[in-house]
Amino acid sequence: MGDPEGGSGGNRLKRPVESHQKRSLFRSWFQFLLLLSLVVFVCCYTLSNSSLSWWEYFPLQNNYTWFVSQTPRHIFPPYYVHPRHRGLIKETYTTTTTTEPPTVQPTGIQYHQAYPRNYHFIMDNTEVCKSKTPFLVLMVPVAPHNVVARDAIRQTWGKENLVQGEAVITLFLLGISGTADVEKLKQENEQHHDLIQSDFIDTYLNLTIKTMVIMDWLATNCRSAAYAMKVDSDMFLNIDNLVIMLKKPGIPTQNYLTGMLMWNRPVVRSKDSKWYVPEEMYPDPQYPTYTLGMGYVFSNDLPEKYVQISKSIKPFNIEDAYIGMCMKKLGFSPTSPPDPSQFKAYNTNYNRCEYSRIITYILGSSEELVKYWTDLKKPGPPC
Ligand SMILES: *[C@@H]1O[C@H](CO)[C@@H](O)[C@H](O)[C@H]1NC(C)=O
Ligand SMILES: *[C@@H]1O[C@H](CO)[C@@H](O)[C@H](O)[C@H]1NC(C)=O
Repeated sequence: MGDPEGGSGGNRLKRPVESHQKRSLFRSWFQFLLLLSLVVFVCCYTLSNSSLSWWEYFPLQNNYTWFVSQTPRHIFPPYYVHPRHRGLIKETYTTTTTTEPPTVQPTGIQYHQAYPRNYHFIMDNTEVCKSKTPFLVLMVPVAPHNVVARDAIRQTWGKENLVQGEAVITLFLLGISGTADVEKLKQENEQHHDLIQSDFIDTYLNLTIKTMVIMDWLATNCRSAAYAMKVDSDMFLNIDNLVIMLKKPGIPTQNYLTGMLMWNRPVVRSKDSKWYVPEEMYPDPQYPTYTLGMGYVFSNDLPEKYVQISKSIKPFNIEDAYIGMCMKKLGFSPTSPPDPSQFKAYNTNYNRCEYSRIITYILGSSEELVKYWTDLKKPGPPC
């Protein structure tokens, strides 16, 4: 538009006018930018004060919820919280003041809070792996009071003790809690011989201790088993498919850890999150590759190695990422399962054909587990 540069005399006349215009243009731009920065600053400030709930005001909330519910735990940790866990956040973080980073005593880091040999077994069922050599041991961390979850598992995947011709054992791992009845737990164990209890306080923030106690029990009392799995109590487990997978040619028998792999996951620094980890506990911004805690499978030589290496790894409350850290320090890395689509997290609907093909799914309740299991096991082809 207008004169091309280097035009004739008219230009000289225009210049002072132009530079005046430029100056006022510059001033209004400057004012605009100042205003914009102010708005951005105010927004950021508001968001940082309500980091978890801001998106709930987002108009597309329903679709966003749907979208994130299709993705597994940890994928959107700072923003998405499964409805079942929302209460937990409040419960956990109203008590955050007590969750100071564990103090490491100068005498040796193995005295840290997650080192399992700092705790003692109350019930240990040391004989279960001596009477038979299991191919696979399922270790289920569960809250002491949660008999409902244990009973549902005992009626479903936990009752299978011979799968594809292989011996499988299911055990539950508990800490201690003020509300659980000690006598009742003893009776429950006398009836089922499947409770392992250690004397750490059973809380959500202590899950890393629980996992390490699982590793300690396996290393000490069940070295003969070929594989083990840490599997949460809210899981659907297609145990046949798991054993079939583990018996595939080429599946390693040592230093093998598999499940749903998580790569380059950022450490959650938002205090409202269930997965919040303070920088003092874990300074790096990302976790090493790990397998999602809902259910991971490992060759049974690893528990002893985890217990040993954990002496020198500072504990933090994200148990699955902690195991990832142990793997990294040992110089190993988790392996993708032969068919990664078999390790599923959340789903919306039960589908018999689908459930006959997968290995894991996270469920909403123990009733769902019994219902889906019963349906899957009824006669007739699932697909
Ligand atoms: C979500 O997306 C679907 C299309 O995928 C649309 O029909 C629906 O209205 C959207 N819901 C909301 C709450 O925006
Ligand atoms: C974790 O367990 C230890 C050992 O029992 C206990 O001292 C600590 O208070 C527990 N921490 C939390 C956050 O529950």
